[in-house]
Amino acid sequence: MSQIHQGQDGENSLEFNATHPQIGAEVLAEPAQTAQPPDGAPAMRAFRPGPLIRESAGLSQNLDAHPYGHFNGDGTEFIITNPDAPRALDNFLWNDACFSIVQHTGVGCFDFQPGDKEAIQLLTGIGRTCDFDVFGRDHLMSRLVYIRDNDTGTFWNLNWEPVCRPSEKFECRQGLGYTILTNKTEGIEASFRIFIPPGSDPVELWDLQLKNCRSSARNLSVFVYVQFQFAFKWGFNSYGDSIYREAHFNREQNAVVASKHPFCRPHDFLTGFLASDQPVVAFDGSRDAFVGTYRTLKDPAAVQRGRCSNTPGSADATVGALQFDFLIEPGARKPLTLVLGATDHESKVASFREHYLGHTDAYFAQLAAQNAALVATNRVKTPDPLFDRMVNVWIKQGASYGSRWGRWGWNGYRDIVQHGLGVSALNPARTRAILLEALRHQFSTGLAVRGWNPVDEKPYSDSALWLVFTLCAYLKETGDLALLDEQVPYYGGDVSASVLDHVRTALDFLVKNKGVHGLILIKFGDWNDSLTGVGKEGRGESVWLSIAYAEAMREMAALMGHLSQAHAQADYTRRRDAIAAAINTHAWDGQWYRRCYDDDAQPIGSRENRFASIFMEPQCWALIAGIASPERASQLIDACDRLLLTELGYMLLSPPYTELDPSVGRLSSMEPGIAENGTVYTHLNVWMILGLLRLGKANKAYDIFKRITPCSLSGPTDPKRNASFLYSNCYYGPQHKNRRFQQEFSWITGSYAWLNTVLINEWIGAKPEYAGLRVQPCLPAAWPEASIVRTWRGATYHIQVGNPHHLEGGRVKLWVDGKPFPGNLLPAFADGKTHDVIATMLPHAESSLTPQVIKNKPAR
Ligand code: GLC
Repeated sequence: MSQIHQGQDGENSLEFNATHPQIGAEVLAEPAQTAQPPDGAPAMRAFRPGPLIRESAGLSQNLDAHPYGHFNGDGTEFIITNPDAPRALDNFLWNDACFSIVQHTGVGCFDFQPGDKEAIQLLTGIGRTCDFDVFGRDHLMSRLVYIRDNDTGTFWNLNWEPVCRPSEKFECRQGLGYTILTNKTEGIEASFRIFIPPGSDPVELWDLQLKNCRSSARNLSVFVYVQFQFAFKWGFNSYGDSIYREAHFNREQNAVVASKHPFCRPHDFLTGFLASDQPVVAFDGSRDAFVGTYRTLKDPAAVQRGRCSNTPGSADATVGALQFDFLIEPGARKPLTLVLGATDHESKVASFREHYLGHTDAYFAQLAAQNAALVATNRVKTPDPLFDRMVNVWIKQGASYGSRWGRWGWNGYRDIVQHGLGVSALNPARTRAILLEALRHQFSTGLAVRGWNPVDEKPYSDSALWLVFTLCAYLKETGDLALLDEQVPYYGGDVSASVLDHVRTALDFLVKNKGVHGLILIKFGDWNDSLTGVGKEGRGESVWLSIAYAEAMREMAALMGHLSQAHAQADYTRRRDAIAAAINTHAWDGQWYRRCYDDDAQPIGSRENRFASIFMEPQCWALIAGIASPERASQLIDACDRLLLTELGYMLLSPPYTELDPSVGRLSSMEPGIAENGTVYTHLNVWMILGLLRLGKANKAYDIFKRITPCSLSGPTDPKRNASFLYSNCYYGPQHKNRRFQQEFSWITGSYAWLNTVLINEWIGAKPEYAGLRVQPCLPAAWPEASIVRTWRGATYHIQVGNPHHLEGGRVKLWVDGKPFPGNLLPAFADGKTHDVIATMLPHAESSLTPQVIKNKPAR
């Protein structure tokens, strides 16, 4: 349903009822202040930004200074008003069955995964992500809407591209799970809302509306176009792909239906459809028929002549092109709704039609409610609006996407397990499900597969290690210790073991697989996917993995302590000390930690090396795991700053390889400044933020946060690097030939997972432990305060932190529900109520315990 609103220019402007739902408006609105000064306590002065805020004025000014768009007021939409951006701006939409990449012009991919079967790309695109599609933009051309004025023969795209006719107005709102395009050209204002309804149907819902803004009636044809691809995402694709394809019009369902029937195939879900609620006057199922043999989508033959040819597709590039004819009176509007979907049989199209057509607003309202809940969970308020927007909205959204779809539908072990950690506070049920699924893909030896759907058994030695961090985060968040006893089968056999035993087996495997330096063997690789040559003969060792193992030992010792298993606790502590000693004896290079030893025990990531003399991974993890002495910690931070720090954050390594080194592997074969070979890798920068926070270095952590966060970029602006308004896997490195600092792989990064926990647990400092919620803020010194509404084990903790002494860390004094509280470990109230916590940061030596009440509006 739609409504007409009176626009400023006197013209009626078109809006969907639910298109601008002010998602979470009620949660985002500042509430009345609730915290009162405890009796007898002096009220804290009114909120005033401190010096660092002034220093970061550039940040605030740049908040909306993206050259091609800006955020809306509540930060839940990024609005692009100039379609001609140097690179496309992607949004990701998804539910449990499918996900889409929708660029700011509406084009992009649609993938779905039937149950636990292999994912299929239904629409377009062979590349894995839109901003890295080596086959060019033509491969992304689906969801095109052509509008043709039949009186003049003029036509354009609602999308703007590929015809690229200048429009009077263009707007794309990239929101939480939806994209809305508006385009006004030739007096026709048209809107296009694209979203995926919550749930587990592999469908996209499209609501289009056209409004005639001129004073005479308009005779229009609308052509809606998708290209059906049917590519198995990661594995099986059949020989002579096109000979199995067909597309036809199903009159009864008013839909174009396409399918692929290869002789052998992993599963049956190979039917796609595009169904509409308005009469289709003509269709094409063949790209050749729609476009014309020597033409392109810029001037397709069918649109040019004003008529589809009703040509079915067969052994062809199968497309779905539907033509609608509308006569629109002055000021009138015409709605058009479509459902795009995937199924295993054409007979099921009817039920999708029935379910969705005519009900799209109701499904959009469901999505809006889901978004409001997301935005309301663990909401922070700080002096930095960019920090708040990222933490409250987009980091959660990115973390949620990752926790369902990992790497574009391929759930690689380490990635999805880290994403499980990332949503442990947001969606602990999902974390639990990820853990159990991951454990089912662990071998009884302790090693795990690299990924599943389809399964990849390459022996990456780090896979199972991630279980420890995610399991412990989940237990601390929920207290669900029963999970530890749940029986889960190992992969590929009949043997089962408890969750706890699975994790122990993983760690025992690592400790049994050490090399000549007493460090853990890298085998096919570790977190750094591309170090594939280091251990190919089985002797190469990983310093990073050894450090991460040390941190896992620390986690396990704490867990054993909580379970009162003193013997096991002592054992894990001993194992941690042993590996830490080996690292500090054999892996210190003088000013930083080395990265690996190859099969011939030669160091990688050492000043002895011509290329990659320093890697980031061991440095940030040495801080996280606390294995570096204070002196080494400060030396390695200096080295990182000197050798790796760029204006956008730390590079993964330096200098990049320019020639192949078989003892390093795939990494050395990449162009300098690409992927692992010397980009600014977001994930590593987030780990560095964590490491710095663990040292109490919040000012420096804040500096790194600002460098890596899009739209906070200051200095000379290269619009290309601002391609996404969100975090990407990396920025191309400064040594790259022509894409210096451009983003690569928007949305696809494990950074969201860590940002979502680190910024809440360790920065704002509302950190779950087994026995309580630890309040331990680590704020930039100039932040006078920060607050969070944190839900934890069945209660809400409204924590307001005051930082009157402008500290980065230190002691904290608490008042809880108006009374002084000893220590800083809050109990699990578990009473469904909200508890007001006032935390004052104090220098270690100070004894005065003046409580402070924050005067600015709290974060609920
Ligand atoms: C990619 C992979 C991830 C890996 C990282 C570093 O993001 O998906 O698993 O850890 O690269 O190599």
